[in-house]
Amino acid sequence: MARWAAAGVRAHLVLTSRGGDAPGAKDLHRELAELAPVTIAACDVADADDLAAVLAAIPADEPLTAVVHAAGITQPEIPVADLTPDVLAPILRVKVDGARNLDALTADLPLDAFVLFSSGAGTWGDSGKGGYAAANAHLDALAHQRRSQGRTATSVAWGAWGGGGMVEGEVADLLTRRGVRLMRPDAAVRALAVAVGEEPAVAAASVDLSRFLPLYTMTRPRRLVDQLWAGTADRDGGAAPEAGPATGENPSRRGWPASPPRSRRRR
Ligand SMILES: NC(=O)c1ccc[n+]([C@@H]2O[C@H](COP(=O)([O-])OP(=O)(O)OC[C@H]3O[C@@H](n4cnc5c(N)ncnc54)[C@H](OP(=O)(O)O)[C@@H]3O)[C@@H](O)[C@H]2O)c1
Repeated sequence: MARWAAAGVRAHLVLTSRGGDAPGAKDLHRELAELAPVTIAACDVADADDLAAVLAAIPADEPLTAVVHAAGITQPEIPVADLTPDVLAPILRVKVDGARNLDALTADLPLDAFVLFSSGAGTWGDSGKGGYAAANAHLDALAHQRRSQGRTATSVAWGAWGGGGMVEGEVADLLTRRGVRLMRPDAAVRALAVAVGEEPAVAAASVDLSRFLPLYTMTRPRRLVDQLWAGTADRDGGAAPEAGPATGENPSRRGWPASPPRSRRRR
């Protein structure tokens, strides 16, 4: 994201994390500084005073024009019924409190973009990640709220990024088996550039539907899948998916057997 902004926008970048000295930060600083001015600062985004200090240090003649909230932590795999406040609080803190602080402390600035890194966990779900899902769903809701107030906001629920980060190793293998493929970072950032200015909350993912759909619709109908189908029907010239039997059938699968092979594949 920072590489894209440095090369494309060439504005002053302020990159933050709690430590400020994440592995590779110095090399990244050197690399980006050839393209744009860069400041790397230690800041806990969930701590309003900490964040206010970083914002106050931004020079008045180079005012803040865009915010990207990508800070986050994931959660250990725990069923919703076993979630405790101890587990939930840190997840909500960084994502939700962090976003709320950014929202409040930049309220008077005419921002061009306010981007929230959300997750497919909050859109289509992820087993054992109920708390993380809720935190991300909050970001999507915040984006809707800001837009309804006439302010800029884009929440992007990502599938999975390649190139390291939260999704690597066993997590990446598991998601890939479930049909959520790793996106190349340059492709993900291009998707983000398109998303800003579109709907307040969007999802961007590379999905192998032949793996994803059967797992996803195995236990119950899913509204998201029905909506995807409706979109397909629109592209097919308005043909609605065929209705299934009145009871007993998973509506998400309606129309598959009856549709011609090419249309089935596209669906
Ligand atoms: N990677 C993916 O495929 C994927 C998929 C869906 C959604 N997302 C979302 O995208 C965002 C970025 O993911 P990623 O893979 O880049 O994660 P990552 O590699 O784990 O990086 C997260 C960053 O957040 C920082 N951070 C954590 N708590 C913070 C706090 N309180 N204040 C400031 N910074 C904090 C961490 O640095 P410190 O520890 O030094 O603070 C770290 O640099 C996350 O919000 C994640 O939920 C990622």
